[in-house]
Amino acid sequence: MSTKKVAVVTGGNRGLGFEASRQLAKKGYKVILTSRDAAKGKAAAQQLQSEGLDVISHPLDVTSDDSNRKLAEFIHQQFGKLDVLVNNAGIYIDNQAGGNSVFNAKIDTLQQTIDSNVYGPLRVTQALIPLMKEQNYGRIVNVSSGMGQLNDMEEGSPAYRISKTALNALTRIFASELKGTNILVNSVCPGWVKTDMGGSEAPRTPEQGVDTIVWLATTPDGGATGGFFRDRQPIDW
Ligand SMILES: NC(=O)c1ccc[n+]([C@@H]2O[C@H](COP(=O)([O-])OP(=O)(O)OC[C@H]3O[C@@H](n4cnc5c(N)ncnc54)[C@H](OP(=O)(O)O)[C@@H]3O)[C@@H](O)[C@H]2O)c1
Repeated sequence: MSTKKVAVVTGGNRGLGFEASRQLAKKGYKVILTSRDAAKGKAAAQQLQSEGLDVISHPLDVTSDDSNRKLAEFIHQQFGKLDVLVNNAGIYIDNQAGGNSVFNAKIDTLQQTIDSNVYGPLRVTQALIPLMKEQNYGRIVNVSSGMGQLNDMEEGSPAYRISKTALNALTRIFASELKGTNILVNSVCPGWVKTDMGGSEAPRTPEQGVDTIVWLATTPDGGATGGFFRDRQPIDW
């Protein structure tokens, strides 16, 4: 079993997932940077290795059961445990101007979005939770969005909004089922961040965006669970 803490980041080849991989490795974690495109994941991991960081890549398409099973087997064989899971991979495909009214929303768009943003993290967590349960230690961070807050729900991009509300529900359900264990599960809104998804107008850098993600991923025993955070503060659901 690895003495270092082992972290998996989904969608690690770019954006927030890439930066979260970098910051976790800087904190001394062995990071498995996962990517649905193996070559892009390898290139991203190589970039972080060239910065002196302990990062390896492994393919993972969060929408594929087979891909999740292969990742779980790899981690079981190589490390025998998992300490951190950052469910970061996500898509935002109903953000086009004029194409995002709920009254015109295509069910196919909703299905694709929910498959990636909700069933994706569910599949990954189902595959990897045994590696946390065995050692009674784990930190799961679900990268959500303020756009999923029911408290502040607005029109536009219904697929993305619904997916993040449902992801937050998963956070609550996971945390409830894991009550009394040392596996802590939380949702994060990273704020509006300059990535391919966030666009160039976004005010936050990826480093700022991942601060709360990394803070929750490295939270000490007895830390928060079943919460929703932005800028290290609890926010409304
Ligand atoms: N940027 C923001 O302002 C913002 C705000 C709130 C929340 N978020 C959330 O933060 C997370 C990361 O966003 P980002 O801004 O970094 O987005 P991004 O730049 O678009 O990156 C998304 C990542 O998810 C991966 N991905 C998508 N579908 C996948 C699948 N089926 N399997 C594996 N990986 C998959 C992408 O892989 P490919 O390269 O192969 O496409 C990419 O690595 C998302 O969950 C997003 O909803 C972002």
